[in-house]
Amino acid sequence: MCGIVGYLGPRDAWSTVLDALRRLEYRGYDSSGIAVLTPGGRLEVHKSAGKVRELTAPGGRPGPKGHLGLGHTRWATHGRPTDANAHPHTDCKGRVAVVHNGIVENYLQLRERLQTGGHAFTSETDSEVIAHLIEEGLEGGLGFEGAFLSMKEHLLGSQAIVAAMEGAQEKTLMAARLGHAGGIVLSHRPGEAAVSSDLAALLPLANSVTFLEDGETAVVREEGIKYLGQDHQDVLKTPQPVPQGTTWAEKGGYRHFMLKEIMEQPQAVAGALRDRVDFQRGEVTLDALPLTDAEVRDIRRVVLVGCGTSLYAAMVGRHYMEELAGVNAEVDSASEYRYRNIHVDRRTLVVSIGQSGETADTLAAMAAVRGKGGRLVTICNAEGSQATRLAEGTLYMRAGPEIGVASTKTFIASLTVLALLAIHLGRVRGALSPEDSRRLLEEMARLPNQLGGILAGREAYGALARRYHRFDDFLYMGRGITHPIALEGALKLKEIGYIHAEGYPAGEMKHGPIALIDPRMPVVAVAPQGSLHGKMANNVKEVKARDGSVIAVVSQGDRELASQVDEVIEIPACHEMFTPMLAVAPLQLLAYYIAVRRGCDVDQPRNLAKSVTVE
Ligand code: AGP
Repeated sequence: MCGIVGYLGPRDAWSTVLDALRRLEYRGYDSSGIAVLTPGGRLEVHKSAGKVRELTAPGGRPGPKGHLGLGHTRWATHGRPTDANAHPHTDCKGRVAVVHNGIVENYLQLRERLQTGGHAFTSETDSEVIAHLIEEGLEGGLGFEGAFLSMKEHLLGSQAIVAAMEGAQEKTLMAARLGHAGGIVLSHRPGEAAVSSDLAALLPLANSVTFLEDGETAVVREEGIKYLGQDHQDVLKTPQPVPQGTTWAEKGGYRHFMLKEIMEQPQAVAGALRDRVDFQRGEVTLDALPLTDAEVRDIRRVVLVGCGTSLYAAMVGRHYMEELAGVNAEVDSASEYRYRNIHVDRRTLVVSIGQSGETADTLAAMAAVRGKGGRLVTICNAEGSQATRLAEGTLYMRAGPEIGVASTKTFIASLTVLALLAIHLGRVRGALSPEDSRRLLEEMARLPNQLGGILAGREAYGALARRYHRFDDFLYMGRGITHPIALEGALKLKEIGYIHAEGYPAGEMKHGPIALIDPRMPVVAVAPQGSLHGKMANNVKEVKARDGSVIAVVSQGDRELASQVDEVIEIPACHEMFTPMLAVAPLQLLAYYIAVRRGCDVDQPRNLAKSVTVE
C-alpha cells in the first residue's frame, strides 16, 4: 500500500508532487506529506494526517518553492495515522528525507540498535529507520549514493523507497525496490525525471518509462538515470513507451467514481470481448495466451488464485473451467496459496486474477508458481503492472481505470475474460462443440445490453436502500455459480457500508447460520434460474419460515419465488453460466445506495486502499 513519488526538474516540485499524490491516493489515504529541496539547499517537510486534499504548508500557505521534491500518501501499517507517522521521514538532523512503501520486517532490531547509537526517533513507524540508516552511512563518511546503498543492505522485507538529501549541490533522488511488494517506475526527459510507485502518477510527466526489478537501485539526476543491480553493478535499461490506453479517470458527472464504474459495466464486458470472438465460427482468439494447442490439450489442472473480489472472480472461474473447458479446477486465496507446499508442473495452468496487478499476496503466489515450473497466465487490468511482468502471458480486462476502492467493473471484466478463456480451452480440448461455443458466445454478446437494462433501473435501489440502510447485519446466500456472487455482494456492503454482512453457500445454512435468522437480519438470496434454483427456493422458504426477511435476486418472470419474498430484484433470463455477471450488478447498486444513505466515504472507505501492496 502507500503511494510514493519523487520529482526533479524545471516544474514547481510542490505542486507537481501534490498532483501525483492525488493520482496515487487510491493506494492509501490516511495521511500524506511532501518534502521539497529549497533553493537554499534545505529540505522543507510538510505532512499531516488526513487526505491529500488537506495537505498544505502551515497556515494554508502555498508549499515551499523548489525543483526537487518527494511525497507520500499512506495506508498505515506500523503506527496510527497521525501527523508524526506521516511520511516523509527524516534523520536526526533533517538532512535526509525518505518515503517508503512496504514493511521493514526487522525494524525493531534496527531501531533498537540505532537508538542505542544515539539516534532520536520521532515516529512509531518502521519506515523511519531508513532515514537513520542513511544518516549512519553519511556519518561514516559515505556520500548520499553510498549511504543509500549501504542502508539497503540492512533491510529485510519487501519494499520501495525514494530518498532525497539536503545541500544545494544534491540534486539527486535515490530510489530502490526490494522484493515484490513495492513497484517502482521511473521516467526521464531532458532536464526532468520522476519516480513513483505507479505509472498513473507519472502520466503528465512521462513519454517512456523504466521499471526497477527486485534489488535494483536508481540514481535519478537531471541529466539522466543510472541503474544499479543487486551487487551495485551498472544495469542497462531501455525505456518503454507508456502503454497506450493508460489514462486517468474523471467522475464524468457522477457523484462517486464507484457509481460511474458500476454504470460502465456494459462497456467493460464489451471491451473484454472486443476482437477476441469470432461469432460465426464460435471461436475465441486469445493472442496473449502463451500455450500452444498441444499444450492446452495436455493441461491436467487449472488453479485460479486472487484476493478479495478477484478471489470471488476466481471462484466463478472454477465453474467455467469445469463446465466449459472440461478440466479439473481449483481455486485458492493467493494469501494462503503462497505459503503452501504447492505441487505444480508444466501440465498445471495457474491463472492469477487481479485488477491492479500489484497485490502483494497475488504476486508472491505467482512467483511461487514460476519457481516450481507451473504455467502462469494473469488476468489483469493495469498495463505494465508487476503481475503482467511476472506472468508468461496477460489477458487484459480492458475495463479502463477503476478508481473507487470497491472493485465493480473489473469484477465483471474478469468474469468475461475467464469465460472466454474457458470457452477457448474447451474448444481446443474438445469439451465444447462449435455449436455449444457459438451459443455461449452469442449469449455473452447479449450481456452488455442486459446489464444496461439493469443499470437503467438504478433508482429503485435508492428506494430499497431507504428501507434497509439501518440494519446492522445481513446474510447473503447463493449456490453453485451464484455462491461467489453472494460473497461478493456481502463484501461490497462490508467495505463501503461498514455493515456486518456474511456470504454463505445456501446449502450450509442448516449447519449453523440458520440460527441467526430473525427479522433484524435481512437475507439476500441470489436465486436466478439455473440448475440449483429449486434448492435455492427451498432455502428461501426455510428463512421465511423463521420470520426472516428476504431480498431475492430472481430471473424475470419467476413469479413463484417472487411471491414468497419481501423484496424482488429481477434480472434478465440468460445462460446459467452468465448469471453471475447480471446478478452482481444489483448487489453493487444495493451496497452503493445503502453506503450513500449512511453517509460513508464510498470511493475511499476507511482502513482500505485500492492496491494491497503489503501482505
Ligand atoms: C474489492 O472491492 C476490494 N477492494 C479488494 O477485495 C480487492 O478486490 C483485492 O484487494 C484484490 O485486488 P486486486 O484485484 O487488485 O488484486
